[in-house]
Amino acid sequence: MNQKKLIAEGAEVAEGKRPKKGFLQPSASSASSAVQSMVDIPVIAIDGPSASGKGTIAERVARALGFHYLDSGALYRLVALAAVKEATRLDDEAALARRALHLHVTFEGGEIFLFGQKVTEAIRSEECGIGASRVAALPAVRAALLSRQRAFRQPPGLVAEGRDMTTVVFPDATLKIFLTASAEIRAERRYKQLKEKGINANIRTLLQELHERDQRDSARSVAPLQKAADARELDSTGLGIEEIVRQVLDWYRQKVAGSQTL
Ligand code: C5P
Repeated sequence: MNQKKLIAEGAEVAEGKRPKKGFLQPSASSASSAVQSMVDIPVIAIDGPSASGKGTIAERVARALGFHYLDSGALYRLVALAAVKEATRLDDEAALARRALHLHVTFEGGEIFLFGQKVTEAIRSEECGIGASRVAALPAVRAALLSRQRAFRQPPGLVAEGRDMTTVVFPDATLKIFLTASAEIRAERRYKQLKEKGINANIRTLLQELHERDQRDSARSVAPLQKAADARELDSTGLGIEEIVRQVLDWYRQKVAGSQTL
């Protein structure tokens, strides 16, 4: 493989291609970005519960603006998957934090490799999502992933989605969105996604799992899922993807225009 590699906070990432799903690779402009203060780089931070559509919306908004995209949930999923592969218990906080700190991840043309093994699809399983929400409740794991996430703030800008993008990781984000949708709609969306992948699913079980995951994500003591005081709430129930993307872009442009007239 002759692609130049960049190393960011322990993540080995291939340069020059933007993944379909996953997160950006710090770009070739990383070196020049050192001169540009991090706070000058715009961030659109989107938080919300499972299956609220954050991933799709964040990716589309990033594409429309030519920004990078961070899927922070993928990091927690990767830690959970690595733990399962290594037979690390999902409550062994110290071991999981070490793993999170030294996670060897490669991104190449939309694919994600964990220690050289392709895991793009594997991390999307419901099982991995549930494992992710367990490891994500551990403070040391969250701390270990913090600087890795912030390293994705690269010019010309970043769209980051997850549960604590607006509150903990990018509290100074240019625009903060809390994206919601009814649990029923979210379960339906997840059901359709799984069906499209040929995976059998039961909508009632999915709804139950969503409720449990929401509960765990909102009730945990560290970085719980909550709406930041300065976030705009966007309920996607009954809205199409294009409408939501347009709304986010409108809010962003208003924000930027507002700050330029100050
Ligand atoms: O967004 P996604 O479903 O891929 O996230 C998987 C799990 O990772 C979530 O249920 C949540 O517990 C955790 N997570 C988190 N903080 C983030 C992103 C994800 O705690 N910023």
